[in-house]
Amino acid sequence: MTELVHLETHIDNRVLPAVPYATLADYIAAGGGKGLEAARAVSAETVIEELAASGLRGRGGAGFPTGVKWRTIRSFASDTLNTSVVVNAAEGEPGTYKDRTIIRVNPYAVLEGALIAARAMDAKSIVVATKSEFTDEGERLRGAISEISAAGWCNDVEIGVLDGPSEYLYGEETALLEVIDGRPPFPRIAPPFRRGIDEVVKSDADVDSGSGLPADVRMATTDASSAAPPVLVNNVETMANVAAIIAKGAEWFRSVGTAESPGTIVCTITGAVRKPGVAELRMGTSLREAIDQAGGGLLPGAQVKAVLVGVSNTVLTADQLDTELSYEAMKAIGSGLGSAGFIVVGDNTAAVSIAAGASRFLAVESCGQCTPCQQDGAEIADLLGNMAGGQAGPEDLAMVRKRLGTITTGARCSLATQHQVVVSSLLDAFADEIEASAEPGSTPVDIELIAALEFLDDQGARLDASFAAKQLDWTYDESDSGKSPVERFTDHRTTETDDG
Ligand SMILES: Cc1cc2nc3c(=O)[nH]c(=O)nc-3n(C[C@H](O)[C@H](O)[C@H](O)COP(=O)(O)O)c2cc1C
Ligand code: SF4
Repeated sequence: MTELVHLETHIDNRVLPAVPYATLADYIAAGGGKGLEAARAVSAETVIEELAASGLRGRGGAGFPTGVKWRTIRSFASDTLNTSVVVNAAEGEPGTYKDRTIIRVNPYAVLEGALIAARAMDAKSIVVATKSEFTDEGERLRGAISEISAAGWCNDVEIGVLDGPSEYLYGEETALLEVIDGRPPFPRIAPPFRRGIDEVVKSDADVDSGSGLPADVRMATTDASSAAPPVLVNNVETMANVAAIIAKGAEWFRSVGTAESPGTIVCTITGAVRKPGVAELRMGTSLREAIDQAGGGLLPGAQVKAVLVGVSNTVLTADQLDTELSYEAMKAIGSGLGSAGFIVVGDNTAAVSIAAGASRFLAVESCGQCTPCQQDGAEIADLLGNMAGGQAGPEDLAMVRKRLGTITTGARCSLATQHQVVVSSLLDAFADEIEASAEPGSTPVDIELIAALEFLDDQGARLDASFAAKQLDWTYDESDSGKSPVERFTDHRTTETDDG
């Protein structure tokens, strides 16, 4: 008799259950709630040390060790004001849909992780920062918060959901804190362990000028010289991993994955694949397998030309498909895992279309606080657009390269570096093709739409098509005002003050 052949699968169900949890009772029946119970029975330090031992790394893009982050934030705690906890559910990276998927099928794990974080930080408030356009996820979160509150999980911790703006920069953690404080998503200089949500004036004698500028706000310190508290910000998927680590232990967490990247990673695969999708895979799975298992394999007849890791890291080429999904393996080839959103580009797409599309996305999403990011970024996008349209010459390509060298000067956040890294990697990987696009009279091609995913389900993936009309000033007006988003906001504030 022939034996059953089991297909090897690297799919796991630590964060994404095989069947979505419809109710809190489903989650509890599957073992949910035990992490919170365990965390409340031990000291905050014990919780943090277990998390550090697990080797969990932040899934928001940078892969920063979560235990180290928690220890640092706790060391900056204020003697008088509570630290806050923020769950980053702003998910705007092109090609990424994993956080919304986790919230849809398992909001309880995210909230349990956040409550454990609150216990470890002695926090009394949690904000889940999502977007107003994520209506289903917002509803799911609010329903789950009602359930856990009714079940007595929250104790004296208040949990709120913030429906934030659509901008990509809103996902940058300091920009997100600005939004929580009622301002536009413009990144701060001070990191969250120095400046949290509660604003504290320099001393009792000081008067807050109301400018909201860092100069008027006191910073959290490791000594008792300031009452300002820090804030802990973690990504949805990071939080969703915490409860099981505390319930089952660091060793259990490390039983899958690699030594430097333990556990699983929730990947999104879109582009030239049969079935765009999201799947939870073991760290160490190859990108090729991820494309098969999460994306159903390539479209019939398609060959991989490139794979974009969102718009955050260098582009991968077809000869790199056997790279493991782990922070160390992606770093070893000069790229990064980012938020594990992979956009597969087929060989019928021109390199200049992708470069112009990625550049346009990053130029439009720049806030304009740093002049080179805004101005060089806009020029790069413009020149690449001309190249895609067959309207450029070699001097334009030379200018693109020159501007890529200066765009990061004085950059406050990573967006400018992303622009530099993504576009440079495309120009280098497809140098001959790009040079041909910069020859006068080259065949025009469309600029590829690189934008956030609006929707992804069994029916397919849908990009946010409205992005095509978004201007550099963040309006959807017919023409761009020529002002950066930050200039427009400053004008608006001046008018308000004049009126008042
Ligand atoms: C332009 C930009 C956009 C970002 N967008 C997101 C996002 O949508 N979601 C997210 O969790 N992190 C995003 N990040 C990373 C956050 O700043 C931060 O590193 C993360 O929330 C930390 O959580 P973690 O330690 O759990 O990864 C973004 C960063 C940048 C520079
Ligand atoms: S680097 Fe760009 S996006 Fe980031 S703060 Fe400066 S101008 Fe804004």
